Amino acid sequence: MPTPNISGSAGKSFRRAVSELDPKQAEAILSTRFLGRRQSLIEDARKDREAAAAEAADCTESLVFEEKDGKATVNLLFSLKGNKPSSLSRTLKVFETFEAKIQHLETRPGRMAPGPPPDLEYFVRCEVHRSDLSTLVSSIRRVSEDVRSTREDKVHWFPTKISELDKCHHLVTKFDPDLDLDHPGFSDQEYRKRRKMIADIAFNYRQGDPIPRVEYAPEEIATWKEVYSTLKSLYPSHACKEHLQAFQLLETQSGYSQDSIPQLQDVSNFLKERTGFQLRPVAGLLSARDFLCSLAFRVFQCTQYIRHASSPMHSPEPDCCHELLGHVPILADKTFAQFSQDIGLASLGATDEEIEKLSTLYWFTVEFGLCKQDGEVKAYGAGLLSSYGELLYSLSDEPEVRPFGPDEAAIQPYQDQNYQPVYFVSESFSDAKEKLRSYVSRIRRPFAVRYDPFTLSIEVLDSPGRIRNSLEGLRDEMETLTNALSILS
Ligand SMILES: [Fe+2]
Repeated sequence: MPTPNISGSAGKSFRRAVSELDPKQAEAILSTRFLGRRQSLIEDARKDREAAAAEAADCTESLVFEEKDGKATVNLLFSLKGNKPSSLSRTLKVFETFEAKIQHLETRPGRMAPGPPPDLEYFVRCEVHRSDLSTLVSSIRRVSEDVRSTREDKVHWFPTKISELDKCHHLVTKFDPDLDLDHPGFSDQEYRKRRKMIADIAFNYRQGDPIPRVEYAPEEIATWKEVYSTLKSLYPSHACKEHLQAFQLLETQSGYSQDSIPQLQDVSNFLKERTGFQLRPVAGLLSARDFLCSLAFRVFQCTQYIRHASSPMHSPEPDCCHELLGHVPILADKTFAQFSQDIGLASLGATDEEIEKLSTLYWFTVEFGLCKQDGEVKAYGAGLLSSYGELLYSLSDEPEVRPFGPDEAAIQPYQDQNYQPVYFVSESFSDAKEKLRSYVSRIRRPFAVRYDPFTLSIEVLDSPGRIRNSLEGLRDEMETLTNALSILS
């Protein structure tokens, strides 16, 4: 895809931008560039998918859930070709031909699919000679559509109540300072002890508790100060206006300053008033599935420890500098908050493949996204707004910049050892949100989900009755808005 004719707000080469810095700072940026960012949601998601694929490969009998005396019992789902009742008899004839003993037959509402969905699908449990199974299935595929076994329909568990986020705590610990030889804090026992102490707050946290305050040590505040002041100097020219506006408010209302590290509870209160987002302490990098599902509840999992003092410009894992400077300000924007929640909602019950794609989408938007504003390109991704070096680089003339499209971004190879070779630029947050919604609507799930902000829970819309109930609430809201319009007119 051709690079659009747009220029970065810095509008100069990355090398030139760096050469204008203090020599010590420039050296730090150029050296940290190659340290690598070895952790990411995408990497976690890929590992999960590969593990599941390996498991599936081992399971050669994936269609069969019971086998006895050369007979296999299988569950099959299919829909009728062209929705014609006549094709039902043709399909049932196949079962008869193979002497398959039907134990159970029922119709179900058709599952979601692009275009007009079939009205009904058919579920059949049958017993068939094991040697005939594959021919039976291929014969059914010839006369009906969307044939699959119920194993293909296995839906991953997901939380439906906000309190169930307490169960979503699967950490990826391979690269934390206790295990990663290259972590800047690996040989610093004091740092590791301190990081563990702060992580324990998250381990003991339960949804709804106030977030315990951390009394940060002078050395930690000094690291924060260096990161804060360096990044803040770049924001006016490089950050999007939503980030700038919220950052100012955070300074006046939530304790943001170079001299103190803000407390998560104060920041969480700030966000809750604006977009309903709240923070939850997390002990480290979460699995992609657990991290994304919390977004569905407008909960942002936020680390509370800070990077090692020897490496203020780079952290191989998320830390409070990344979260508080990169993520938090932009979560105060309503459209962006909805965009983030939409990714979370799409992840609920998604397959491992879809989780990997959603994580990649998250990577190229929430972490490394650019957007157009007043004829310039600005950064809104947290990975950019918390990294002085990459923020300069992303808006220089060096990387390739493409228009944002979810289908492309979801499969774009990402870079975790260096800066991104490609960034995606959105026309606006609203445009990105609409494109994301269109992408998400094509994810195949046997149900839809909706967040209920009154009960802080997820409604699983898998039957006409449940959809009717949701519509009732929507109708009430529409009435309120229609009344408001009529008063104005
Ligand atoms: Fe992040």
